[in-house]
Amino acid sequence: MEIFQCLSNKLLLTFFFILAASAADPYSEALLSLKSELVDDYHNLNDWLVPPRGNAAPGEVYACSWSGVTCDKNNSVVIGLDLSMKHLAGVMSGNQFNVFTELVGLNLSHNSFSGQLPVEIFNLTTLRSLDIRRNNFSGHFPGGISRLRNLVVFDAFSNSFSGPLPVEVSQLDYLKVLNFAGSYFKGPIPPEYGSFKSLEFIHLAGNFLSGDIPPELGKLKTVTHMEIGYNTYQGSLPWQLGNMSELQYLDIAGANLSGQIPRQLSNLTKLQSLFLFRNQLTGLIPSEFSRITPLTSLDLSDNQISGPIPETFAELKNLRLLSLMYNEMNGTVPEGIAELPSLETLLIWNNFFSGPLPQSLGRNSKLKWVDVSTNNFIGSIPPDICSGGMLFKLILFSNNFSGSLSPTLSNCSSLVRIRLEDNSFSGEIPLFSHIFDITYLDLSRNKFTGGIPADISQASKLQYINISSNPELGGIIPGQTWSLPQLQNFSASYCGISGNLPPFQYCKSISVVELNMNNLSGTVPKSVSNCRALETMDLANNNLSGPIPEEFASLPALSVLDLSHNSFNGSIPVKFGTSSSLLVLNVSFNDITGSIPAEKLFRSMASSAFVGNPQLCGAPLRRCPGSTAILGSRGTGKLFWVLLLCAGLVIFIAASVSGMVYFHRGFKGQWKMVSFLGLPRFTANDFLRSFSSTESKETVRAPSASACKTVLPTGITVLVRKIEWEAKRMRAMSEFITRVGNARHKNLIRLLGFCYNKHLAYVLYDYLPNGNLAEKIRMKREWAAKYRIMLGIAKGLCFLHHDCFPAIPHGDLKSANIVFDENMEPHLAEFGFKYLLQLNKGPFPAASNRETGESNNAIKDELYMDVYNFGEIIVEILTNGKLTNAGTSIHGKPREVLLREIYKENEVDSKTSVIEEIKLVLEVALLCTRSRTSDRPSMEDAVKLLSGLKPQDNNNSSKAGGL
Ligand SMILES: *[C@@H]1O[C@H](CO)[C@@H](O)[C@H](O)[C@H]1NC(C)=O
Ligand SMILES: *[C@@H]1O[C@H](CO)[C@@H](O)[C@H](O)[C@H]1NC(C)=O
Ligand SMILES: *[C@@H]1O[C@H](CO)[C@@H](O)[C@H](O)[C@H]1NC(C)=O
Ligand SMILES: *[C@@H]1O[C@H](CO)[C@@H](O)[C@H](O)[C@H]1NC(C)=O
Repeated sequence: MEIFQCLSNKLLLTFFFILAASAADPYSEALLSLKSELVDDYHNLNDWLVPPRGNAAPGEVYACSWSGVTCDKNNSVVIGLDLSMKHLAGVMSGNQFNVFTELVGLNLSHNSFSGQLPVEIFNLTTLRSLDIRRNNFSGHFPGGISRLRNLVVFDAFSNSFSGPLPVEVSQLDYLKVLNFAGSYFKGPIPPEYGSFKSLEFIHLAGNFLSGDIPPELGKLKTVTHMEIGYNTYQGSLPWQLGNMSELQYLDIAGANLSGQIPRQLSNLTKLQSLFLFRNQLTGLIPSEFSRITPLTSLDLSDNQISGPIPETFAELKNLRLLSLMYNEMNGTVPEGIAELPSLETLLIWNNFFSGPLPQSLGRNSKLKWVDVSTNNFIGSIPPDICSGGMLFKLILFSNNFSGSLSPTLSNCSSLVRIRLEDNSFSGEIPLFSHIFDITYLDLSRNKFTGGIPADISQASKLQYINISSNPELGGIIPGQTWSLPQLQNFSASYCGISGNLPPFQYCKSISVVELNMNNLSGTVPKSVSNCRALETMDLANNNLSGPIPEEFASLPALSVLDLSHNSFNGSIPVKFGTSSSLLVLNVSFNDITGSIPAEKLFRSMASSAFVGNPQLCGAPLRRCPGSTAILGSRGTGKLFWVLLLCAGLVIFIAASVSGMVYFHRGFKGQWKMVSFLGLPRFTANDFLRSFSSTESKETVRAPSASACKTVLPTGITVLVRKIEWEAKRMRAMSEFITRVGNARHKNLIRLLGFCYNKHLAYVLYDYLPNGNLAEKIRMKREWAAKYRIMLGIAKGLCFLHHDCFPAIPHGDLKSANIVFDENMEPHLAEFGFKYLLQLNKGPFPAASNRETGESNNAIKDELYMDVYNFGEIIVEILTNGKLTNAGTSIHGKPREVLLREIYKENEVDSKTSVIEEIKLVLEVALLCTRSRTSDRPSMEDAVKLLSGLKPQDNNNSSKAGGL
C-alpha cells in the first residue's frame, strides 16, 4: 500500500514536471533535461525552473534569466552557456545540445564531468569558445571537432583523455588557443599540428607524448606561446623551431630531449621565456642567444650542457632569471653578467665554474637570489652583492671562497637564508645585529674567528645555525642562545668554544644541540629539563663535569645523548631505562661509577657506550664485584640462555668447520666488522658463524630477496643484507655505508654495523617485527594515527636530506620500505641502498672526498625523486592504498573529486575538523608531486607544512628550499 502511494506520488511529480517543461520553450526544456542528468550537490542550478503557470510572451525564453545562461538582445536565442565552477558532476548524454544551434560560448570548466566528451557538442557549428578544462572527461578524444569551423578557443586542460591527439583539430582555421595539457594523450605530436593558420597558444605539456618533436611545428608563424614539455620525446630539438618568429614563450622542460641546443633558436627575437630544463641537452650554449634581447627568463638547468656562459650574455638587458644549475659548465662568470640591469635570480650551482665572481655583481641590479654553490669559485664575496636591498638567499657553499663577511654582509638586512659552508671564509661573524629576518645560517667548515657574537640573541627568527668545524672560532656560548624563540638546530662542534653551558631557560623549540669537540667546562644545568623538543644532544669531547642530570631522562623526544670523553661523575641515572625515546646513550670515557642499570635499553647498547669509566661495572662491561646477578632471581633463566648459547656455539663450531669452508671459498682476505653505536661489540667471525647457521632456515619477511633475518650471539635479531663488491670499490662503498650508519634518527631503521672483506659485505639492520606499510596499508586507522605515520616518514626523510652532509637520498622510498616498530612508529628502511648499489656499478667513483659534479647531480635528482615519492605515499595512506603511484594522475583529477574520494575512504563527514587537516595533507602531496622538480617543496618545508607550521613566505617555500 505504502509502496503504491509512494510510487503514485512520484508518477504525479514526473507528470507535472513534463507538463511544466513541455509548456516551455525548447531551450529551457533542453536545459532542464540536461540538469536532470547532472549531479548538482551544491544546488547551483536551483534557479533553473519554469514558473508553474508560464504565461510567457511568444518567443520568450525562460532560460534567459537562469544562472549561467546568456541570450541575445531580444532574449529569444541562447547564445552562451557557462556552467564553470558549479561543483557539477555526471556523464552527459549530449542529447540536448542539438537545440543550441546558435551557441557561441560553452564553458563547462572546473567541474567533475566524466565519461566521453559528448560528440553532439561538435554540431554546435557557431561555437567560438569551448572550455572544458579541469574536468574528468576520459577515453579517446572523439572525432568531429573539425565541424566547429568558427572555434577560436579550445581549452581541454587537465582531463583524463587517452589515446592519440586528434589530428583534425588542425583544420580549424580560426583557432587561436589550443590546450590539451594534463591528460594521458599518447603517441607523437601529429606533424599536421604545424599547419594551424591562426594559432597563438599551444599547450600540450604533461601527457604521455613520445616520438620526435615534428619539425613542422616550425611553420607555426603565428604562435606566441608554446608549452610541450613534461612528455617523453625521442631525439633532439628540431632547429626549425627557430622559424617560429612570433614566439614569446617556449617551454619544453622535462621532455627527454638530447643533442645540442640549435643555434637557430637565436632567431626567436621576440622570445621572453625559454625553459629547456631537465633534459639531456649537451654541447655549448649558443653565443648567438644574445640576439634574443627581450629574454627575461632563461632556464637551461639540469642538462649536460658544457662550456662557459657566453660573454655575449651581457647584451641580455632584460634578463631577470638565469638558471644554469646542474650542468657541466666551466670557465669563469663573465663580468658582463654583473652588468645586467634586470638580473634578480642567478642559479648556477653544481657546475665546474671557477675563478672569482664578478666584483661588480649586485651593483647594477636588485639581486634577490644567488646560488653558486658546489663549483670551484675563489676570492671574496662581491662587495655590492646586497646593495640592491632585495637579496634574501645567498648560497655559496662548497667552493673556495675566502675573505671576511664584513662589511659586505653585515648590513644586508634582507637576507633570510645564508649558506656559506665548506669554504675558507675568515674573520668575525658580523651577522646578527642587522639581519633580523635570518632563519637559516650555515657557516660550518670555514675559518671564522672571534666567537659566536652575543647579538645572536636578536635573531628572533633563526631556526637553524651551524658553525661547526671552525676550529679557531673560540669564545663562549652567548647566554641567550637557548631562548631564541624559533631555534631548532644549534651546531657548533669543533669550534674551540670554552666556558660553561648557559642555563636552558625558555628552551622551547630547540631539537638538536651539537657541541662536541670543544672546551666546555662546568656542569650541565638541570634546567635542560625545559628543552621539551630536544632530540639530539652531543656534548662529547669537552671538559664537562658533575653528575649526569637525570632530567635528561624525562625529555619526551630525546633520542641521542652523547656525553662521552668528558669528566662526568656519579652514576648513570636509572631513570634513563624508562625513557621511551632514547636510542643512543654514550657515557664512555668519563668518571662514571657504580653499576650499569639492568634495563633493556642499556642491554641493547654496545660496551663502547660505557668503556673508559674505570669504576663502572655491570653488563655489557665486567661483572660488578660481589654481584649475584647470574644466580639472582632471574638467574635460572639467564643460565638457561647462556647454556643454550654455548651449546649453539659448539654446534656452530662443529658445523661451521665445513660451513665456513664453504662460506669462505673464493673469498680470500680478512673479514672486518664495523659496528656503529648501539651494537654490542663482537667479531666478524661471531657474526659469520651465526649467520651461516641461520641462513638456510630464516629467509623470512625481508624487504627484498637479498636480505634475511638472523640472531646474533648477543641475542639480538637483525636483518642482514649481502652486497658483493669489487675490491677496488670496497673503500668508497664502506665509506658510504659508514655515512649511512652514522645517520641516526627516530624514524630511520638503525644500521647496526657491517661485516666485510674485499669481495662482499653483510650489512646489519635492526629487525623491526611489526611489518611494513605496504602490508598494513588497508588496516583501519584513526586519522590521527595516519597523520602520525605521515609526519614520521617526513621527519625521517627530512633528516636524511637536511641533517646529513652530504645529503643521503633515500632512493627507493615506497610503502614496502617503511617498517613499524612495536609502537607502530614508522621507520624508513633501505635508505641509501640504491646509491650504494650504483656505487658498485657505474663509473669508478672519484678518489677525492668531494663529490664530482656528476654524482652530485644524480644525488640531487634522487632527492627530488624522494620528495615526489613521499607525495605518492601520502596519497596512498590517504586512500588506504586505493591510489598507488598516483603522483601524476592526481593532478589530472579535479580537487573536489579527489577530496570526496578521500573523505569517503576515511569515513569522515564533511563537517568535522579533520577535513581541514586532510585538505592540508593533500595539498602537501600535490606540491610534492609537482612535475617541475624545482616547484616541489624541500622535505624541511614539507615537515613544516605537515606540522601546520606555515612558512612565512609561500612563494619561496614552494620552491625547492633545500639550498
Ligand atoms: C529582435 O527584435 C527586433 C524587433 O523587435 C527584430 O527586428 C530583430 O530581428 C530581432 N533580432 C533577433 C536576433 O531576433
Ligand atoms: C549533427 O547534425 C546533423 C545534421 O545537421 C545530424 O545528422 C547528426 O546526427 C548530428 N550529430 C549528432 C551527433 O547529433
Ligand atoms: C636563422 O638563423 C640562421 C643561423 O643562425 C641564419 O643563417 C638564418 O639566416 C636565420 N634566419 C632568419 C630568418 O633570421
Ligand atoms: C672546460 O671544459 C672543457 C672540456 O671539458 C675543456 O676543454 C676546457 O679547457 C675547460 N675550460 C676551462 C676554462 O676550464
